[in-house]
Amino acid sequence: MVFKEQLKKYQQEINEELEKYIRKEKCPEETLNQSMEYSLMAGGKRLRPILTLATYQLFKQDADKCFPYAVAIEMIHNFSLIHDDLPAIDNDNFRHGKPTNHKQFNEATAILAGDGLLNMAYIVISKDLRESNIEEIPKKVKVIEEFSKAVDRMIAGEYVDTEKQGQQITQAEQKYIHENKTSSLLSVSVRMGAILADCTELELKKMTCYADKIGLAFQIKDDILSEEGNEEILGKPVGNDKKLGKCTYISQYGLEGAKKILDKNVKEAVEELKEFGEKAEFLKQLAYYIQNRNK
Ligand code: IPE
Ligand code: IPE
Ligand code: MG
Ligand code: MG
Repeated sequence: MVFKEQLKKYQQEINEELEKYIRKEKCPEETLNQSMEYSLMAGGKRLRPILTLATYQLFKQDADKCFPYAVAIEMIHNFSLIHDDLPAIDNDNFRHGKPTNHKQFNEATAILAGDGLLNMAYIVISKDLRESNIEEIPKKVKVIEEFSKAVDRMIAGEYVDTEKQGQQITQAEQKYIHENKTSSLLSVSVRMGAILADCTELELKKMTCYADKIGLAFQIKDDILSEEGNEEILGKPVGNDKKLGKCTYISQYGLEGAKKILDKNVKEAVEELKEFGEKAEFLKQLAYYIQNRNK
């Protein structure tokens, strides 16, 4: 199957899975539920859950086994986006070509919708744990611990990103922000797929290197798109990083410098996949997709 078709197939699978967790009942918090659904089903690329499924499939075929973890990471990602757009953080009005959550609803609802998605991720995982065979529990507890630590790192990265806004920072601090606010969730998505599929330590090491490199590449590309992307295609504002004095790979290395680092990371990520041969073709193409995407 060609890459684009496979990507679409994965996206459909994730969307169908996510639909199962949308709360539709009439209740006092109905608007809060709508607000959670509004962001969760707004048309994200689903890259994190796709990484979990595709990595699992490097080793095993029954990828539905990792659906709960794929769904959970996407819930966390959407929680992070809702809060990232808030006036106190990036103060953005558009995402996915629509008003951001706090613009569509209000700030209090957006904060609580983010909280709701964060918690729902753990409800989904807990249910899976309860339904698992006893011999799978240690592996899954390891996955949950890694998952929680990655969420913690994302929050820490967002904190430093916000705190350092408008300041001159070192290259090491810049890398710290990107590795935490963005790379951590992408990286754990890959690791969860690999661990759930019982890969070897060596395979896990290789996949972690791939993941860290595409994770960093992903945020560098996000910085580049914030500089020179097309707002209509992107569905979110262009130029806001500069306006807010955000510390980015562009402010640190310039546009051309950032592009060089992006290309280097993608090249190195692809090299990590070599030993997996043909089986890793989708993940290889995904690295190029991250490099060349326009949304
Ligand atoms: C955007 O992530 C926020 C960052 C972490 C850079 P994505 O571009 O993966 O978001 P969606 O879900 O596909 O819109
Ligand atoms: C978002 O980073 C990172 C998280 C939400 C954790 P950015 O603020 O750079 O991403 P966009 O450009 O708003 O999507
Ligand atoms: Mg931000
Ligand atoms: Mg932002």
